Amino acid sequence: MSHRIAVIPGDGVGREVVPEGLKVLRALGVPLEFEELPWGCDHRGRTGRMMPDDALATLARYDAIYLGAVGWPTVPDHISLWECLLPIRKTFEQYVNLRPVRLLPGIRGPLAGRGPADVDMLFVRENTEGEYSGTGGRVHVGTDAEIAVEVPVFTRRAIERCARYAFERAAERRGHLVSVTKSNASRYSYVLWDEVVAGLARHFPGVRVERVHVDAMAARMVLRPDTIDVVVGSNLFADILTDLGAALQGSLGLAASANLSVDGRGPSMFEPVHGSAPDIAGQGRANPIGAVWSAALMLRHLGYEEQAARVERAIDAVCLDGGPLTGDLGGTASTAEVGDALASRVS
Ligand code: IPM
Ligand code: MN
Repeated sequence: MSHRIAVIPGDGVGREVVPEGLKVLRALGVPLEFEELPWGCDHRGRTGRMMPDDALATLARYDAIYLGAVGWPTVPDHISLWECLLPIRKTFEQYVNLRPVRLLPGIRGPLAGRGPADVDMLFVRENTEGEYSGTGGRVHVGTDAEIAVEVPVFTRRAIERCARYAFERAAERRGHLVSVTKSNASRYSYVLWDEVVAGLARHFPGVRVERVHVDAMAARMVLRPDTIDVVVGSNLFADILTDLGAALQGSLGLAASANLSVDGRGPSMFEPVHGSAPDIAGQGRANPIGAVWSAALMLRHLGYEEQAARVERAIDAVCLDGGPLTGDLGGTASTAEVGDALASRVS
């Protein structure tokens, strides 16, 4: 039985890295059927909409979604994202955003002397609510009296399902979970978060849980990355910390992510952490590794564990051999040359 994958290259370098991901997936010979959906900011220029009215119903018919990047300077970011990426994450209850942060062998990280054994973290980001709830409004628009409120919304249900996923991953890995909040300054939402995590901890006696405030966590990721295994955090905090994580890996172009509809309420979506990168788009310079690694996460999700591991090993091997690598990692290769090297190693 084959799986049907909706492919949304999106905007900017998304259109350059996604073909490399497809190249690697095709080289594996797994029965995947790809259908490309030309949605994004250009589509909005032509039609007035980021995606068609029935886009979510269309996506619901696929087994997974492979996405490049959404956003382009011609459209305000809050519009392009709230009309495309965020509705997909929320509608299909992709309530976990899974983001591995690993220093790849051969990549010189910013923490000289640290190696792959020191940087191997797995971020579990709450992906449906929190600071991204969209609750709020503006009044007295354009006047001196204008105000805007944006209210984070946290529910016990959403915290619990995400934290449970994180505990399960921690139990399979090194048995350590850091829960990131800011429950000293915020008195309600993150306090609820802490309580829910403490309640779940009783069901996972094999997992040691630490509560760390987000500011301290940022410092710890740089100073003692070796003490971090699985991390669970709110939508905004884990967003910020995983850009730091990408920097620890050596480049934003390496970082991968999976938006998991853990209960299978809809297709899950796989996308590199980087955005559309208008500054380098169209030049064939974007690093495709984040997109290829995201494809590996998709393979694992669809049940192709052996092939996922093969793609991850190919990424490690290319890094360890010192290339071919793109300019962000000090190399001179093009996007397609890196994609070719990865594809030839997996086939
Ligand atoms: C990410 C991105 C998005 C997010 C933006 C584009 C809304 O930064 O996937 O990390 O914050 O979720
Ligand atoms: Mn981000």
